[in-house]
Amino acid sequence: MAKLLIFNWKMNPGTFKEAEKILGESIILEESSDKYEIAVCPPSLWLFDLSQKYAGKITFGSQDVFGGDPLSGKGASTGEISAEMLKNSKVEYIIVGHSERRRYENETDEMISKKTEVGLKAGFKVILCVGEDLNTHSQGPEAVKSFIKDQLEKDLENIHNSKFIIHNSLIVAYEPIWAIGTGIPENPESAALMAKYIKEAVGAQVLYGGSVDGKNIGNFIKYEEIDGFLIGGASLSPAQFGGQLN
Ligand code: PGA
Repeated sequence: MAKLLIFNWKMNPGTFKEAEKILGESIILEESSDKYEIAVCPPSLWLFDLSQKYAGKITFGSQDVFGGDPLSGKGASTGEISAEMLKNSKVEYIIVGHSERRRYENETDEMISKKTEVGLKAGFKVILCVGEDLNTHSQGPEAVKSFIKDQLEKDLENIHNSKFIIHNSLIVAYEPIWAIGTGIPENPESAALMAKYIKEAVGAQVLYGGSVDGKNIGNFIKYEEIDGFLIGGASLSPAQFGGQLN
């Protein structure tokens, strides 16, 4: 099966022109490899226009979705974007529960569970991000496993009985918080062990995320437990992955 590369642009770039340039490089990368499938997740302001203009050339994802009430797809929720709106653009993936949103936007497991449910029920592939902080990491692998198990239980609470949609459309991104944006990735063997653990626990595909770049991706690729990668900073210079993905 092709490995999945999710390019999470976060709050970048500053202009639509730059967004088109980065997207163009991502499309060249996608076309150069049949072993990888790339999905680009731009900020929502650029997402709609990019996904209309470049439909069919590359896959798109949203960095978030509205998970509160009303769920109808429109209503009095300032600043939010609903699953129904995303349905009307050409988006296939939705990221939920990214640690930056948990931390800076105070997203709780309860909110993330709602978002996961909304995204899956609307027919999207949902990428649920989980991961431990440095303190938990320093207590060793068993502590990490128990933290992740607890996080998964809470974040999947609303869909626990829906084995079918989990198996088909849920993707878990294992992203240790201490590895995100620090230039210090988890070591590939430990990342693979956690991917295996998560896969057995929920029966979903598992991505690794946290300081993956063109130089180190090759160290992770060989582990078949890792189904792909969630890439932040390095996804803004996608050409660096050229030649690494074949
Ligand atoms: P990074 O971000 O690749 O910049 O570490 C990963 C992520 O936050 O998804």
